[in-house]
Amino acid sequence: MTVLVPTMGALHKGHQALIKRARSLSKEVVVSIFINPLQFENIDDLEKYPRSPERDIQLATLAGATEVWMPDYEEIYPGEIKKLSAGSLGNLFEGHARPEHFDGVVTVVNRLFEIVKPAMAVFGEKDFQQLAIIKAMKSSVEIIGVPTVREFDGLALSSRNVRLTEQGRVSANVIHRALAAARLAPTIAIAQEVMDTTLSTEAGFKKDYATIIDEDTFEIATDDVRNKRGIIAGWIDGVRLIDNMKMGV
Ligand code: PAF
Repeated sequence: MTVLVPTMGALHKGHQALIKRARSLSKEVVVSIFINPLQFENIDDLEKYPRSPERDIQLATLAGATEVWMPDYEEIYPGEIKKLSAGSLGNLFEGHARPEHFDGVVTVVNRLFEIVKPAMAVFGEKDFQQLAIIKAMKSSVEIIGVPTVREFDGLALSSRNVRLTEQGRVSANVIHRALAAARLAPTIAIAQEVMDTTLSTEAGFKKDYATIIDEDTFEIATDDVRNKRGIIAGWIDGVRLIDNMKMGV
């Protein structure tokens, strides 16, 4: 049974957690590394996306990958691209900030599934909306979510973190601080206030959104919603960072 771990490379401990989880499920773990141009709305972001293929092979193998697959563009998109739609969930939050991003994600994930034909595929909860959208694709591939791996100060691991300045890196843990503080609040209103107030303490953080949602529908949560999740996105040093956390309220 093949388990696929789709990545865009620049692997770190977060990806290694996905690979380890995949390996706990099967002896056959394929890690794909493909920087999918379709999911970048901005050429600058695509060009700046970190690339480290040799290190990636090492890290993937150390974590238990049995195959590291680096397809080229033609293998993924031979001829005319049949672009899929991520549906209405694809237009909210990350999708609102990054038009067509999730259409690009579901298109490539569908191609990876078509080519590799895995029984299961593993994705990180850090990209919580992406995980929900991929689950909603309702393919025959079983989708497994893996909890976010964090730095010592709570910052969620991301390939983009290397682009932060020294000061930006220090400021960046405000996102985790805001989520962790909100998680303990007794009501949504207080959680929202705590989240906003914490974020406003870091002048370097430019907020896009900071909201508590119903994690099953992505609608703004009310107190009676069962599964609530805080989601935050913003920029530090012009680098877009996102994170999320299950709320205790
Ligand atoms: O999360 C990612 O790295 C990418 O969006 C994915 C799932 C590999 C698709 O290109």
